[in-house]
This record gives sequence, structure tokens and C-alpha cells, in this order.
Amino acid sequence: MKRNIKQLISQMTLEEKAGMCSGLDFWHLKGVERLGIPSVMVSDGPHGLRKQEEGGDHLGINDSIKAVCFPPAVLSACSFDRDLMHEFGDTIGREAQANDLSVVLGPAVNIKRSPLCGRNFEYYSEDPYLAGETAAAFINGVQEHHVGTSIKHFAANNQEFNRMSCSSDADERTLREIYFPAFETAVKKAQPYTVMCSYNRINGTFASENPWLLTEVLRDEWGFKGYVMSDWGAVNERVPGLKAGLELEMPSSGGVYDKEIIAAVKDGSLDEAVLDQAVERILNIVFEYTDHRETQEFTLEADHALARKIATESMVLLKNDSVLPLKETEKVAFIGEFAKKPRFQGGGSSHINSFRISNVIDSISPDATVRYAKGFSADDDVYDETLAKEALETAKCADKVVVFAGLPDSFESEGYDRSHMCLPGCQNRLIEEILSVQSEVIIVLHNGSPVEMPWLSKVKGVLEAYLGGQAVGEAVADLLYGRACPCGKLAESMPYKLSDNPSHLSFGDGENVRYQEGIFVGYRYYDAKEMPVAFPFGYGLSYTTFAYDHLRMDKSDITNSDMVKVSVDVTNTGDVEGKEIVQLYVGDLTDAARRPVRELKGYEKVSLLPGETKTVNFTLDYRSFAWYNEAIHDWYAASGDYEILIGASSRDLRLSGKIHLTSQRTLPFKVHMNTTLGELLTDQRTAGYVEDFKKKLSTIFATPSADGRRDEDVAITEEMNTAMVACMPLRNVVSYGFCSKEELLEMIDKMNGR
Ligand code: BGC
Repeated sequence: MKRNIKQLISQMTLEEKAGMCSGLDFWHLKGVERLGIPSVMVSDGPHGLRKQEEGGDHLGINDSIKAVCFPPAVLSACSFDRDLMHEFGDTIGREAQANDLSVVLGPAVNIKRSPLCGRNFEYYSEDPYLAGETAAAFINGVQEHHVGTSIKHFAANNQEFNRMSCSSDADERTLREIYFPAFETAVKKAQPYTVMCSYNRINGTFASENPWLLTEVLRDEWGFKGYVMSDWGAVNERVPGLKAGLELEMPSSGGVYDKEIIAAVKDGSLDEAVLDQAVERILNIVFEYTDHRETQEFTLEADHALARKIATESMVLLKNDSVLPLKETEKVAFIGEFAKKPRFQGGGSSHINSFRISNVIDSISPDATVRYAKGFSADDDVYDETLAKEALETAKCADKVVVFAGLPDSFESEGYDRSHMCLPGCQNRLIEEILSVQSEVIIVLHNGSPVEMPWLSKVKGVLEAYLGGQAVGEAVADLLYGRACPCGKLAESMPYKLSDNPSHLSFGDGENVRYQEGIFVGYRYYDAKEMPVAFPFGYGLSYTTFAYDHLRMDKSDITNSDMVKVSVDVTNTGDVEGKEIVQLYVGDLTDAARRPVRELKGYEKVSLLPGETKTVNFTLDYRSFAWYNEAIHDWYAASGDYEILIGASSRDLRLSGKIHLTSQRTLPFKVHMNTTLGELLTDQRTAGYVEDFKKKLSTIFATPSADGRRDEDVAITEEMNTAMVACMPLRNVVSYGFCSKEELLEMIDKMNGR
């Protein structure tokens, strides 16, 4: 049925229209019964449904319906698997239809600027390309069921401290290259029905009333067609917000702001057409859902199986000195309460009321020989002598020990950030003690963000389970015992220590948070600094091995509009079936701007039987080579060479090739009195004007003495001469007497094309 929404709006009163622009309560939009406009419900998400039937709150305090807790974003992103994320979204879409939810509040795609952000477990990656691709696949899956998503939190919401008032202060290039692209890709590839604006300000202006962000960038540039809703309580000034492009305020503000909208229309300070347009955008999405209601069952059991699959395909094997997989015949000790009581999700608004939780002890085969010792509590940081003693006894008698370590709930959550990157001291201490009586030690980590691993060089294995969702126990058991082959890779770098992180000196400031590291976030920084990390971005081991071979590109010379097809052959050289995540990075060799050494521009996950070879294909376009040039407010790739690198991680690059790009875009060049001769000499448009000045200056700096040698030859070398000429501002040619000021100004006008 094609609805005439405009006509419907023409029948609405001003009060009804203003009312549509804010929530009815915590989770519902208002309806207008007399016009057949239904009141629809939205709900968190996104890694499961947090449908609160009564007692709404946005902090996860009150109970929600029993549902399936899928792996939070921190883990699912490590799958690097678009098909799996699509299947995940498809299941959430079905679940939402089964529970009459019109919009699921997610995915959350904010960039992990620091490992300390309390909500990193809800976010995908430090890399905007991976975050964008992952989000787009998930959104497409959900929305195939005509259930909306609300990609959040737009934008630059990268810390919890003072999240409702602080300002993320970043230059435009940084926002465009790092903090925006996940949203941009999702809008362009998946058109989320809604976008949730963040609480914070950006360079001083609240996201909820930022016309540049919500209208110019989001709608005019990227083509967003849905509606923008506020994060819960993110409205600062309602009328400026509406004008800026914030259609829906959530949750209800008890009609306070509706009244301001009505008053503004009445006194002429708000054009009613702006309100009508906002209502139209909201109603389009409301009816998109209600006109396509599906009969779906809430298939908890089947969905639990998918949660297990996602977890298994995402957990990352970080270290394996021939200690894994475990054999059922081995005597194994499981130590740490996380083995019984795994931490599988984070706290706050995304908290799911799981209908079942699997632990690893109940998930191993009945034939496996495992003894459990609690060792330490999963909830706090208290070293318990009795528990430790028992754990050491158990460890001594075993062939191998698996320690289930991790962060207690209180260590990381929505609402606050961590202040350090350490595991509880009691866990680190017990691990060291176990290492003194047992050499075969494996650590399984349950954490929403990286932790320092002081024992790393001494343990034989590390499995990063992150927060595994409710099927965590089964997934960990599958991987430890080799019923599944590990195939996740890190969606973030793991630094050795907190102070290595590029945002270390400005993260968590209260009012103005200066993003002073700019575009150098995550591996972009560690690689530029040639800094060792515990584990690099894109890294993860398998129980098999892969060989990379035969890189080919269908073009080696391109211009702006060309697409390049890149292919590579990957072979499973081990003896079990496995999946490899093949990564493509691009490095800019042109020297036209300061850029990361290399950036992820493609990835594919491929499943291979032992001995099998498959060709993996990538397509690159202009954007794959470009950076955001603030002078033209657009993406720009300079002429020159670019490196194409194929790797198993950002630091395990196996093959490389080169592409030459001839740019068809010339950058504007505005000459002024302080433009340097160097800048003028390197630009074809201006070089001719200043050649003469260059010659004259060179002679001044290097006049030969009568005997062909001068003292100054030692003081002023050829290199210094060249550098001095290059750095000379144009204004100095007047003081050297090469021309008059008037002549110079005339020349500048000519160079500027006037
Ligand atoms: C969070 C959002 C969430 C909303 C509703 C807010 O506090 O920032 O991510 O969707 O609450 O629960």
C-alpha cells in the first residue's frame, strides 16, 4: 500500500505534529488514533533485544524480556565476516518482528580511540573501514524485515566521562577520515532507517543541534533518507535541534519541548514546513514498519545456536606454542570463576536478559578430563589464600592448565571509563604463581577492551574470548578442544601498555577533549611510530596455516574514475579445515600529505579445506587511495605511486604491488605575500614567475670568491642554499631589491589568475 503521508500530515493539528517529534514514554513514539497513526516501540539492542515491557530506563536497571544475548560488537567485529553479520542482523530483524519492535537501537559504530572507553565493548573497531562494512552488513540484515536500525552515536562519542556535555574537539580531516566513515558507509550501503545523534558536542556544538553534522554531511552529502533521533536525553535546545535536523527527541520530555516547538511556529521563529518535513520523515519509517508486519516466532533456541556460531567464528587465538587444541585424554585444570560464571556482555543500556547462559565446564565433552578450581572470584579483586592454594594444587596435578581470566563487570561499563588497562591484581598474581608450578598454561580472556598481559611471554596460549554473548561457554569449549578452528582476528590493536596509546595525554578530559593525535588512531599511530604492540590490528592465529601467492591487479596506471581489481591466491597449507581473513592495505607513497603508513581498504574471509586454494578478489576505487583535503573539503588522492599490500594482519604483510595514479584534480593555490618560493617552484602554475628570484637568491647565498673558495662555502652548503631559497617567503624579494612591492602585488594577482 502506497500511503499519502503528506496528505496525512495536512490533516494533523500543530499540536499533533509537534507531538510526533518526541517520545510518548521511554520507548514508544506517539500515535494519533483519529488518523490511524500507530504508536510504535523502539528498543535497545543491538546484540539482542532489551525490550522493557514495564519500567523503562536507559541504563539497564529494570528487567527486560528474556531474550538471546548475541556477542557484543567488540567480538562480532573480529569475525571480519560480512555474511555472518548479515545473518546476525537478519535474526535480530526477525526477533524484532516477533516482539513488535519497529526500530532496534544500534549498531554502535564509534571508533575505539582509547582502550579505556567504558563502552568499547559495544563498538566495533579502531578502524573506520572495518566498522563501516560490519555495520552495513548488519543493518541490511535487520532492515530486510522492515525493522529499522538506529546507527549510533553520531558522532565522535568516544569516551563516557562527561559524555552528555563534553566537546570532542577534532579537525575536519580527522572527523572525516576516522570518526565519520563508519556512519557514511552504513548510510551509503545500507540506508539505516534512523540515526541516533550522540550526547556530546563536536567542536563546541551539540551533536543534537548541529546543522553541519545532521543535515549538510548526513543528508546532503551522504544521502540519508530516514530520521534522526536523539540519544536518550541528548536534547539541549529543541527548536535549534529541529532546525538542524533532529527529527525525534527521545525519550519523552513530558511535552515540555513540544510546547517550545508549538510556540516557535506560532511566533514565526520556526517555519512550519520544517516541522512538517520532520513529521513526514518520522511517519515514513513508522509506516514502513507497520505496513510490513511479519508473523515471526521468537525462536530462542535456534537463535542461541547462531549466537554460538558468531562467538566461535569471532574469538581470537592470540598465542599458541603447540599447546592447543586440548585433547580429551589430557588431564586439564580449569581455574578461575569465569569458567563457571563467564562474563559475556557489558553493563548499561545494551544489557540483555539472557534466556540461557552456557559456561565452558558444562560445554566440554563428557569424555574430557577436567578439574575445576575457582582460584578467584569473577566479581572483584580480592586475593583469597584458600582459593589460591587449592588452585595451585589442582594446577600441579594437571597436564595443562587453562586460566579463565577477565574483567569484572564493575571494571568497564556504559557511563564511565576505565582508569587503567590492568586485569585485577589477584588474577595476575595467581597466574604468576601457577606458572611457577606448571609450564603448560593457557589464558582465556573475558574482557570488553584490551588488558595488559604481564605474563604473556611465559604462558603457552592465549584465547581472546572478549565478551562472548550467552553461548560463550560452548564457543570457548569448541575452540579449546579443536571442535572448531579459530578464525577471528583483532578489530583493534593491543598495546603493551596504556601510555603507548596515542590518545593517552588527552583522553578523558572533562570539557574540551582535544583529539590531538588526529588521524593517527590505533594501528595508524603504532605503525607510524614503528612501535611494538602486544598484538597488532588484524592479527589472529588458526589451527592451520595459509600461504599467499600470485598477487595480480588488472591495472597498474589509473586515474580518478578507474576501479582496480586485485586478486590473490590463498592456500590452506595445514591439515585441518580453516578460515582465513585476507586483508588489503593501501600505502600512499606520493608524499603529498602526512598519512598513515598503510590503511585497511579491503578484507575477505575465505574457508579452505586442507590443501585447497581459492582466489580472493578485491575492488579498489578512488576513495581507497584518497585522504580528506580540508582545502577543498573533499577527498583527494595526489598523483604518484601507491603500495598495495596483502596481509594476514596489519603487520604480517605477505605480498605487495604498486599502482600509479594520475590525478585529474588540481588543488586550488592561493598565492600571498608569505607563500614560500618552494611552494611556488613546485607548482607548474607559478614556477615560471619565480625562477628568476630563485637564481638571484642562489647567487647571493653562494657568490664564489676570487680563488674559487670562500669561507662561506663551509658555512653555507649547497643543501643549505637550496633550503633557504625554498623557505623564503615571497615578501622578502622586495627587501632584497628584486622588485618593488607594487610589482610584487601585481605578480601575485597574476598568479592568482586575476
Ligand atoms: C545510550 C544509547 C541507548 C539509549 C536507550 C542511552 O543512554 O547511550 O545507546 O540506545 O540510552 O537505552
